[in-house]
Amino acid sequence: MKNQLWLVSDLQEITGGKLSGDHASQIFGFSIDTRTLQSGDCYFAIRGDRLDGHHFVESAFLNGASLAIVEESWTSSSVVGPNCNVLSVPDVVHAMENIGIAARNRISDNSVVAVTGSVGKTTTKDMLNMALSACGPTHASVSSFNNHWGVPLTLARMARDTEFGVFEIGMNHPGEIEPLVKMVRPSIVIITGIEAVHIEYFEDIEQIAEAKSEIFAGVVHSGTAILNRDNTWYSYLFSKATNAGVDRIISFGSHSDADVRLIDVRVVDDRTDVVARVFGKNISFSIGAPGYHFAQNSLAVLAACHVLKIDLVHAVSAFPELKARRGRGARELLKLDGGTAVLIDESYNANPVSMRAALATLALHKNSSNGRKIIVLGDMLELGQRAKEQHEDLIEVIKTADVDRVYLCGPMMEHLWHNIPQNLRGSYSKNSAGLVDVIAETLLAGDVIMIKGSLGSNMKPIVDRLKKLPQELDIL
Ligand SMILES: Nc1ncnc2c1ncn2[C@@H]1O[C@H](COP(=O)(O)OP(=O)(O)OP(=O)(O)O)[C@@H](O)[C@H]1O
Ligand SMILES: [Mg+2]
Repeated sequence: MKNQLWLVSDLQEITGGKLSGDHASQIFGFSIDTRTLQSGDCYFAIRGDRLDGHHFVESAFLNGASLAIVEESWTSSSVVGPNCNVLSVPDVVHAMENIGIAARNRISDNSVVAVTGSVGKTTTKDMLNMALSACGPTHASVSSFNNHWGVPLTLARMARDTEFGVFEIGMNHPGEIEPLVKMVRPSIVIITGIEAVHIEYFEDIEQIAEAKSEIFAGVVHSGTAILNRDNTWYSYLFSKATNAGVDRIISFGSHSDADVRLIDVRVVDDRTDVVARVFGKNISFSIGAPGYHFAQNSLAVLAACHVLKIDLVHAVSAFPELKARRGRGARELLKLDGGTAVLIDESYNANPVSMRAALATLALHKNSSNGRKIIVLGDMLELGQRAKEQHEDLIEVIKTADVDRVYLCGPMMEHLWHNIPQNLRGSYSKNSAGLVDVIAETLLAGDVIMIKGSLGSNMKPIVDRLKKLPQELDIL
């Protein structure tokens, strides 16, 4: 059963809006998308770049919305019946922010963690959510809800009895993190690392590091920063945190000075076995998905749990259940004529760091049959001026990844294509659509195939096509 988050009258008080309808109605959730809106939700009618949420107010009520928050300039005309609760405000996003801030004010100051960084935010946030959920009621961002509407929406959805909150905070431009972290007011911040990704709107990587440092501006009670000791920007972030008044800095990584240190990591079949040392004390655990990067991310999670004084053995107990998400390394068995093939779906995200991590994990994959290892790569986007070079450079890691066939698509991948040795060449296409049938025809029983590209490179149709091959079996 869902818990009541607010009464309509509470939201009127918080936003100062004009209400037509029933003050006593209950709100059980918040939504900005009527396709996923649940009965009892409050619907925020947000004007986006492409669509205006006000066009969907009627559909929100048809789906059972308890309340719609709309711009005061919007006139409901005939689409909204007299029994529907409508709260009119000058600015809907601002109202959502205020509700988010009010939700944040209801819970303890010492139990909120914010995660930012160039790569691995969602994975770290999900792992921390798992660890904390094993210890108490935990509220976390859905998916990558990390921007100017994702963060306040996630805050607004936080229940009064939340013991731990975990928020992902992202950015594409300088100045975006600070207002978000000031709403979240974490006592612990994690920066997974600084890399030259999402660099399109930045002059150089130092500007990225500076923008990520905005996270320290929102830390409450002089809190804790958890920083990657192996990252080139560790010292830079350390001084930024100190200058911002952060009291305690905890480092994680393989570095011998790391407070939470990776002692051993082994990828065994479809899991990762880790030994870590947390402030001098060893802990061993398994993560239910393969990849060194999961081990790295788990160190930041252990550090946060340590600060929150949570029993670490309890915290890691959920990790064997972790599965790589669809688009971020999920594995599926495809039944083909004469046997099965393994599909590794990395179609949601790609940048030079995650590309290397995925290829390194693929290199460890033991192909039990005599099948081939095939990679299908699409462009890595938002890389700015060094994009061409960053694509060309992938040849080094491909050479060490024990790959048998390479298929590439996209204008940037053409630069890499010139570097691929003849004996590894599958084919190249200007876009992913040009590879859909080629890949479906080439895949044989025994093969392992990994498909990876930035979301905008549209690699998913290739994944979807392969799943329609004779018969899909269980997720591994
Ligand atoms: N520590 C890491 N090092 C390298 N790659 C990683 C790491 N953690 C996760 N990845 C890989 O990077 C990709 C993106 O991961 P994830 O979604 O966690 O990052 P994100 O920072 O949330 O990205 P976004 O900016 O798109 O929200 C995935 O393919 C994932 O497997
Ligand atoms: Mg994310």
